[in-house]
Amino acid sequence: MSEQPSTHTGEAWSEDMLWAVAMSDLAVFLLDDQGRLLHSNDAGRVLAMRLHPDDPHPDPARLLTYIPEQGWQIAQRDGRWIGEVPTALPGLVLEIKAFAGRDRGRCRRYTVMTDISVRSAREGELRRRHDELQSTYDRLASAQEQLLQSEKMASIGQLAAGVAHEINNPIGYVHSNLGTLQEYASALLALVDGYANALQSSDPAASRAQLKQLRERLDVDFIVGDLPKLLEESREGIERVTKIVQDLKEFSHVERDEPMRPSDLRKGLESTLNIVWNDLKYKAKVEKHYQDVPLVECYLSEINQVFMNLLINAGQAIDDRGLITLAMGVEGDEVWVSVADDGVGIPEEALQRIFDPFYTTKPIGRGTGLGLAIAYRIVAKHHGRIEVHSRPGEGSTFRVVLPIMQPVLSRPRSK
Ligand SMILES: Nc1ncnc2c1ncn2[C@@H]1O[C@H](COP(=O)(O)OP(=O)(O)OP(=O)(O)O)[C@@H](O)[C@H]1O
Ligand SMILES: [Mg+2]
Repeated sequence: MSEQPSTHTGEAWSEDMLWAVAMSDLAVFLLDDQGRLLHSNDAGRVLAMRLHPDDPHPDPARLLTYIPEQGWQIAQRDGRWIGEVPTALPGLVLEIKAFAGRDRGRCRRYTVMTDISVRSAREGELRRRHDELQSTYDRLASAQEQLLQSEKMASIGQLAAGVAHEINNPIGYVHSNLGTLQEYASALLALVDGYANALQSSDPAASRAQLKQLRERLDVDFIVGDLPKLLEESREGIERVTKIVQDLKEFSHVERDEPMRPSDLRKGLESTLNIVWNDLKYKAKVEKHYQDVPLVECYLSEINQVFMNLLINAGQAIDDRGLITLAMGVEGDEVWVSVADDGVGIPEEALQRIFDPFYTTKPIGRGTGLGLAIAYRIVAKHHGRIEVHSRPGEGSTFRVVLPIMQPVLSRPRSK
């Protein structure tokens, strides 16, 4: 039998235990109930040596004095403590496991220490890198959000001329109607004056012919017929302007930090069509086949942006005159909206690429290639999908499919 393994003090453990402890790579210390060191194994001495490299026989008991009091308390209470131990050796992190027992009737505290400085440094490094990645991700997400927003604003900028035209047109005729109405009002007031004069005369009946003449001269019969029409047309004009302004307001609304709301996709599609109407009306007839669909939980202004990109693309795909067909319906727990055109179509090999950012076949200044990439991102954020069917020369159909309710886990929103 080989020599009895060395221990720090003379007090004995059972022999089996001593061997097990001596052979362990873990630093093991046996303390009495006052916290005094009774035994330590070789690994314990190696650990002590790390703290005092100049001392050939470092005292492991000194190692124990470095452990903060709170560390001991936690280790005894929870069985485990991990912490940095303030020594001359920077960054020494120990894991301490403690448990109490009895050795031949006496209270003993067994303590196992592991130097986890390297692991802890690695974990710290990993955490730092993770935090760095997280912050880069957050910055990217916010940049993407800004890109989305600026693309929306750029689209509005592009549309501004068309929208201005759409607003100018009704304002133009309301303005001209107001001029005519002013003339009508003067004529009618002149007639009222004529009647008043006639009433005041001694023989009103004698004025009848005069009044008849005045009526004819002022063209009152025509005015009476035309006036309600002018008023109605002007009211429609003002309503159209109000509607476009309202649609624009909705479209440019930023829903950041708000929850998704159950929204009326039909209303969204209609108001978006209203905004892009000036770009489409000279090129395409628009047919609508809408089924009744339930409200869909979404950011409507973002979904409107998807509709806008699809509508503009459909318009641009039509060379001369064509047909754009809008449809929507419900299938199971999803609602779909499709925008179809009978324009140029998309060749098979290009279909793979149309959702790539900056992929465009349009001349410089006409397309940036972001429309579908952004639409894709928005729809993916809503846990939906975009399906495309296209044949060169026949046209394309883009179908946006959205779940009626967002999955529970994705609420509340994290943008
Ligand atoms: N309805 C469509 N018909 C034919 N080709 C289409 C249609 N929609 C998209 N495409 C093709 O997909 C490409 C990418 O479309 P996307 O909307 O992403 O960019 P863009 O329209 O070129 O530019 P932007 O939308 O940024 O102004 C288009 O350039 C076009 O080649
Ligand atoms: Mg586009």
